[in-house]
Amino acid sequence: MERAVLQITLFGLLLALAATQPNKDNWDIYSFHINSTVTSRYATTVITSRMANRMDESKEIEFHVRIPKNAFISKFRMFIDGQVYDGVVKGKEKARQQYTEAVSRGQSAGLVSSVGRTLEEFKTSVTVAAHKKVTFELTYEELLKRRLGKYELQIHARPMQPVKSFKVDVHIHEKSGINFVEVKGGLALADAISKTYADNEVWVNFYPTEDQQKTCTSCGEQGMNGDLVIVYDVNRDSGLGDIKTSAGYFVHHFAPSSLTRISKNVVFLIDRSGSMHGKKIRQTRLALIHILNDLSEDDHFGLITFDGSISYWKRELVQANQRNLESAKTFSEDIRESGATNINSAVLEGASLLNAHPREDSASILILLTDGDPTTGVTNLEQIQSNVRAAIADKFPLYCLGFGFDVNFEFLETMSLQNNGVARRIYEDSDADLQLKGFYEEVATPLLIDVTMSYNGGTNLTQTEFSQYYNGSEIVVAGQITDNDIGTFTPQVVAISSSKKMTFSNPNGTVESTGTESADHIQRVWAYLTVKQLLEKE
Ligand SMILES: *[C@@H]1O[C@H](CO)[C@@H](O)[C@H](O)[C@H]1NC(C)=O
Ligand SMILES: *[C@@H]1O[C@H](CO)[C@@H](O)[C@H](O)[C@H]1NC(C)=O
Ligand SMILES: *[C@@H]1O[C@H](CO)[C@@H](O)[C@H](O)[C@H]1NC(C)=O
Ligand SMILES: *[C@@H]1O[C@H](CO)[C@@H](O)[C@H](O)[C@H]1NC(C)=O
Repeated sequence: MERAVLQITLFGLLLALAATQPNKDNWDIYSFHINSTVTSRYATTVITSRMANRMDESKEIEFHVRIPKNAFISKFRMFIDGQVYDGVVKGKEKARQQYTEAVSRGQSAGLVSSVGRTLEEFKTSVTVAAHKKVTFELTYEELLKRRLGKYELQIHARPMQPVKSFKVDVHIHEKSGINFVEVKGGLALADAISKTYADNEVWVNFYPTEDQQKTCTSCGEQGMNGDLVIVYDVNRDSGLGDIKTSAGYFVHHFAPSSLTRISKNVVFLIDRSGSMHGKKIRQTRLALIHILNDLSEDDHFGLITFDGSISYWKRELVQANQRNLESAKTFSEDIRESGATNINSAVLEGASLLNAHPREDSASILILLTDGDPTTGVTNLEQIQSNVRAAIADKFPLYCLGFGFDVNFEFLETMSLQNNGVARRIYEDSDADLQLKGFYEEVATPLLIDVTMSYNGGTNLTQTEFSQYYNGSEIVVAGQITDNDIGTFTPQVVAISSSKKMTFSNPNGTVESTGTESADHIQRVWAYLTVKQLLEKE
């Protein structure tokens, strides 16, 4: 979900914005607290920043934080002089326009924009009278996604000055129990972190002193600047998984682990257009060679490189045996860039390689790596998308990796979503080969194909069909229970695992209400997934 702009307009605040940039010396952040509560992978984080204008005149005070791209802002408030100002969270399109209007009318408005790989920035400012204080409070929510066997809660802090009372409090509660917890990231100063465990709960507290705030790896005279990343996983069984219900809603986390891998048929489509010149093509070659080394002997694979024309390594999929891998590596080392970008032909050729290789009970995967827009052959984006859909016909997922910022990422994302896959941006950086390899690892071990999640007695369900389930990931479905009648609610999963049909169901036939979840918690997870999937469909 690209939520480019989410805006908050603060009604009732008709205070003039100062024409000059705010000067950090004018105000003092005396308290900066981040409080994150995770229940069943759903994280609610509140950032509270208390600031004072120490000057003899009114000053513009800025509030400026970074939140994960996957999160929704659910609340924003300011407290000034005993008054509360509630922000109204607005969606996308109108937002930028309203922001511009609000600013030109001298109102206070907040704007969200994308920064870096995983974060986006929320910014707002307000004018505060001499010697008065202001409290900003921002709440955001996100469903943590399981990747490579773990969840990551990323907390970013950059108050721009050392703060007298700086606290990060994280509380994780997972009913099925917590398997491990680690704290990573540039802020992770061992001296200032404490972890407390109970049965199925963990508390992480991070209270650095003002001195410590200047000494961590990503900190300086301006105080903390970086991430605290809480990494964890939960205990799980090999069956139907974790189902929680409350107030007529349910959420189902499905991630069976003790299954055997199924072999895969993977075709890589590698862009070698002129723009891949230099570092990008070198990193691509490097990543490809790593990936080839990781294939299993019973996997089959194909390689196509393309610019204006298509080059095959082999005209058919071949087994990943030693001899073929050596030859493919030699081919990869010789990839040279030149020419234009014919995405249409490349994807159609890749699809036909996979279609010509029907192997039952194995997982087929098509991976496209490109750094640019289609410039030759069919270049009409909608035409390409419809050709690709027809060629793939829901038989396997298409993953698109957009390298750098010259790609039309929305085009790639739409094309992936239309074909049961996802798109990922690869940032042009020294670690681009690791990003490529990291993506491949997420799909490297298919455990199930044609996964159908069914819920007798359930309604208003989020997505229930998944073409593949990979080791280390997780399928999450939420919905409502018809008439809140838990007695007749029967979840079941049917899928194909190495040559046999498998059915996962609750041995006792029915599900118990967890009851302990706070009343609207599961409803929020359902709303989050529903909105996110609607945005993807757009
Ligand atoms: C953090 O938020 C939770 C849930 O809202 C609350 O119970 C807890 O007291 C808060 N912790 C701190 C330190 O403010
Ligand atoms: C799946 O991943 C877990 C660790 O994350 C590993 O122990 C297990 O062997 C993997 N399963 C397969 C089939 O590779
Ligand atoms: C849920 O589904 C029922 C019908 O099954 C429908 O009447 C209702 O409007 C739906 N509610 C929401 C919130 O989508
Ligand atoms: C199934 O029923 C048995 C006995 O009634 C109970 O002990 C067990 O916890 C139930 N299991 C599930 C998954 O509901």
